[in-house]
Amino acid sequence: MDIRVLKSTVKVLVEEGKGILAADESTPTIKRRFEIIGLESTPETNRIYRQLLFTTPGIEEFISGVIMFDETLRQKTDGGIPFPKLLSDRGIISGVKVDKGKVKIPNFPSEEITEGLDGLRERLLEYKAMGASFTKWRAVFLIGQKTPSAVCIESNADLMARFAVFSQEVDLVPIIEPEVLMEGTHDITKSEEVTYRVLKTIFKRLMDYKVIFEGMLLKPNWVHHGLDCKNKASNEKIAEATLKVMKEVVPSQVPGLVFLSGGDSPEESTIHINDMNRIDKVSWQISFSFGRALQQKVLQVWMGDPSRIKEAQKVFYKRARRNSLARTGQYKEEMEAENGE
Ligand code: G3H
Repeated sequence: MDIRVLKSTVKVLVEEGKGILAADESTPTIKRRFEIIGLESTPETNRIYRQLLFTTPGIEEFISGVIMFDETLRQKTDGGIPFPKLLSDRGIISGVKVDKGKVKIPNFPSEEITEGLDGLRERLLEYKAMGASFTKWRAVFLIGQKTPSAVCIESNADLMARFAVFSQEVDLVPIIEPEVLMEGTHDITKSEEVTYRVLKTIFKRLMDYKVIFEGMLLKPNWVHHGLDCKNKASNEKIAEATLKVMKEVVPSQVPGLVFLSGGDSPEESTIHINDMNRIDKVSWQISFSFGRALQQKVLQVWMGDPSRIKEAQKVFYKRARRNSLARTGQYKEEMEAENGE
């Protein structure tokens, strides 16, 4: 392991004014996203869509890295250029989701464990040879009457820590994504308590496995009321509560927090990044690694129609630019109305 390689990758990923595009939807997830716009997901339609995103003029101003799914990392442009090469030619780093998805835990209804350690060492070497510089592993935690359970948190934390050491062993920066889901009726206080508990357990396990904090990134959820909660928290409160928990549990050596959007609207997601960057000076970079919040409107404009690719790319450029401004607290909500989508 070469810590200098890990540090230099991290530095590029969290460069000021830039964030990460999470385009790593698995086969079932991209199928669900395409269903909304009435499009069938096939390896070819998936490729055309990712090509639309990756060839958008100017996105390298705002996007430092792209997370891909295994299928995408192996795909090429119409002109035969492998996607990792296309991106690196534009100064964008390639990453890959390496977990193999979630399985239900027997005896723990509605809870899941993320799998993917079998054969991971070999896969990591293959991904590296294909041009990947970083990796991602996602685990989910559902808030309910009795969840998340200690078994769910502890077993996912252990798997995540093992994923992280295997990645660092071959100089791939691990992005750890423990997502406390927004589904549910819980209020923001409950989300704060659960996010704290999950992150505390994970960092303890990362320490046990001697994961190098300087060579990893955390991809957390923001502390947020449940989607079906009647008592909604303000955006200010969300930013404050999120920073409070992060300060309590995230070691200062971790270079960056690259937030997921978790189903919040694109505008709200940008506001949360902006607010957090305005509140306080903190030791880590506060950035984005959005899937839906960057892509939702692009899909709505594109609709699978080749004649709408340019228009969809303009929408993607604007959304990426607004999130870039949020990195330094310079985003203003009026921008949505002024420039339209
Ligand atoms: O796995 C999920 C993605 O990495 C983040 O997606 O921003 O839509 O929550 P999201």
